[in-house]
Order: sequence, then C-alpha cells, then structure tokens
Amino acid sequence: MDLGMCIWLILSAPGVMGQFQVEPLDSTVLKGSDARFNATVQGKWEVMTWNVRGFLVLTVPRSGNISSSSEQFSASFCSTEDTSCVTFTIHNTSRREAGLVICTVQGDYGSKSAQLHVQESGTVQIQEGDKKVAQDEEVEFNCVTSAWFPSPVVSWNLNGGTVDNSLYNSTHVAHGDSFNSSSVLTFKAIKNLTVECLAIVQTLTKPLSSTVHLVVVPKPPDWTVLIAVLCSFGGFALLFLLIFGMFFCYKCRKEKELNFQDEMTKRVRTQSQLSGLRPPGRKQGRVTVNAGYVTDEDSSL
Ligand SMILES: *[C@@H]1O[C@H](CO)[C@@H](O)[C@H](O)[C@H]1NC(C)=O
Ligand SMILES: *[C@@H]1O[C@H](CO)[C@@H](O)[C@H](O)[C@H]1NC(C)=O
Ligand SMILES: *[C@@H]1O[C@H](CO)[C@@H](O)[C@H](O)[C@H]1NC(C)=O
Ligand SMILES: *[C@@H]1O[C@H](CO)[C@@H](O)[C@H](O)[C@H]1NC(C)=O
Ligand SMILES: *[C@@H]1O[C@H](CO)[C@@H](O)[C@H](O)[C@H]1NC(C)=O
Repeated sequence: MDLGMCIWLILSAPGVMGQFQVEPLDSTVLKGSDARFNATVQGKWEVMTWNVRGFLVLTVPRSGNISSSSEQFSASFCSTEDTSCVTFTIHNTSRREAGLVICTVQGDYGSKSAQLHVQESGTVQIQEGDKKVAQDEEVEFNCVTSAWFPSPVVSWNLNGGTVDNSLYNSTHVAHGDSFNSSSVLTFKAIKNLTVECLAIVQTLTKPLSSTVHLVVVPKPPDWTVLIAVLCSFGGFALLFLLIFGMFFCYKCRKEKELNFQDEMTKRVRTQSQLSGLRPPGRKQGRVTVNAGYVTDEDSSL
C-alpha cells in the first residue's frame, strides 16, 4: 500500500473533515491587471464558491458549467484531468475588489480566506516645466503626484543620476481614497540639466516620471571684480610713474648741475686764457688747462 493510497483512505473516511488550501493568502496587484487564486482540494467535493468583499461572485460545480456574476470573474480547472485544483481569476481589478476573497467548498470543508490589495498609479508632473535661470541661482522644482494608492515613493534624477534625498522633501495628502503628494527639490544652478521626478509603487515594474530641462544662462563678467582689478592696476601704475618721475627729476637736476659746472669751467678757462691771469680763490686755483680737458672728456662720457 503506497502513501497516496493511505492518504486517500484517511481523507475519504467518513466523519473526517476534508482539507483544502488557497494560494496565495495575500496578493497585491496593480489596478487594471488580473488577480489569481488557486484552491486545491483533497478528496471528493461537489461545489466550490468564491466570495469577493462579501458578495458571491462565482460557483464552480465539480462537473457542469461554472456560473459567474459578471465577466470580471472566471474560474477553470488547473488542468483538464485534475479536478482537485481550481484557478479563480478577477480580471481588470479595481479598488472595489480589494479586501477579503473567500473560497468555500461545500460539505465538510469550510472556508479559506485570502487578502487582495489593489494599488493605483496616478499622475506625475513637475509643475514648473522647463526653466531658465542665471548661473549660481537657487532653483526649486515642485513635483506633484496625484491619485496614487498607496502614496508613491518619489525620487529625483539630475542628468540621469539619483539625487541625494537631503535635497528634497515630500509631503503626502490623502485625497478621498487615494493620495496626492508634493516633493520640492532645491539646488544651486551650475550647469544645464535634465530634471526628472519619479514615482513608484511596489507593483509597478518601472516608475512613472516627468522630465523638464534646466537651462543655465552663464554669468555676465563681474564688473565689480573687473573694476577692482583695474583700480589696483591703475594705483600701481600711478605709484610707478610717481617714483619714476621723482627719480627722473632728480637725475635731470644732477645733470643740469654738472652741465652748469662744465660751463663755468669753460668760461673760467676762456677768461684766464684771455686775461693771462690766474683767477683768485681756492677753487679756481685748482682749475688747470689740463684738468679742463679731462673734465670735458669726463662729461662727454
Ligand atoms: C452548459 O452550457 C452549455 C452551453 O454553454 C449548455 O448547452 C449546457 O446545457 C449547460 N449545462 C448545464 C448543466 O447547465
Ligand atoms: C476595466 O475596468 C474599468 C472600470 O473599473 C473600465 O472602465 C474599463 O473599461 C475596464 N477595462 C477593460 C479592458 O475591461
Ligand atoms: C522641506 O520643507 C520645509 C517646509 O516646506 C522647508 O522649510 C525645508 O527647507 C524643506 N527642506 C528641503 C531640503 O527642501
Ligand atoms: C489632489 O489632486 C487632484 C488632481 O490634481 C486635485 O484636484 C485635488 O484637489 C488634490 N487634492 C488635494 C487634497 O491636494
Ligand atoms: C546651456 O545651454 C544653452 C543653450 O541651450 C547655452 O546657451 C548655455 O550657454 C548653456 N549653459 C551652460 C552653463 O553651459
């Protein structure tokens, strides 16, 4: 006697409660997609029913036609030969179907309940649109998400790279049975950027996003700096001219003095030649004809 036979004997023994399982016991789907639950029944059964949020929506006889309250609900055997397994499908799910999904197998089986969660993705919009600012200006972008359930996780990308979450902060507001949120990103405009706001809930395979462009107008040259530079240059030039001027004047005067001395020497020499007399005084006494020539040569150098 094999194990399967043994189990079958135990289960089919009168007075022993039949068993069945429902899987998954907890399911989260995105609005508009399908939700599926499998019921596996051990033993002989006749009728299975499915309730969604307290309403009987589907009846499955083990043999015969399945009846459903609407096209939104359907069921089938997992395989044509195996009537122990039934797949129940809720098509095009919405929040109306979220809640308890109960499967009942008539007879000694009882009921099993599972939980259905339906998420909704709404809209994402960077409110400012494209923006043009001056370089180094603080820029602010507001990303508004509306009609999401639950509240989405909002993040930002700049040129495709994720933004540190210290640069933005998000607030969520319940709006009816869904959520609106607002995220504010602020940073200093340095270069041209693609700004992207992303919103995601667990059941979305990729986030929804809104993209705008930031154009940074390069700063005009800073005139105050330029003027300061020019002024200091001017100051230096003036100082230089002053020193140069003083030096030049000093040199000029020295040369004039020298020329004056030469002139005097020549005059004295001519006078002494004419008169044949030695000029009186200590200084003139030193002036000789030879010394006069030397002085001439010196001054010409
Ligand atoms: C099952 O449905 C078919 C047509 O869809 C019908 O001909 C048949 O009579 C139904 N059987 C039962 C038991 O209701
Ligand atoms: C899905 O359900 C919504 C209402 O919840 C309906 O407007 C829409 O047309 C349905 N889509 C399909 C493909 O049945
Ligand atoms: C977050 O929001 C508050 C209030 O609106 C604001 O004072 C604060 O500066 C914001 N922080 C950042 C990083 O944006
Ligand atoms: C949520 O967003 C919708 C659509 O943008 C808007 O009509 C509604 O007033 C918002 N609700 C709240 C509470 O901000
Ligand atoms: C940004 O792009 C515009 C043209 O699209 C260009 O004129 C400007 O110089 C760019 N800014 C910087 C900071 O590169």
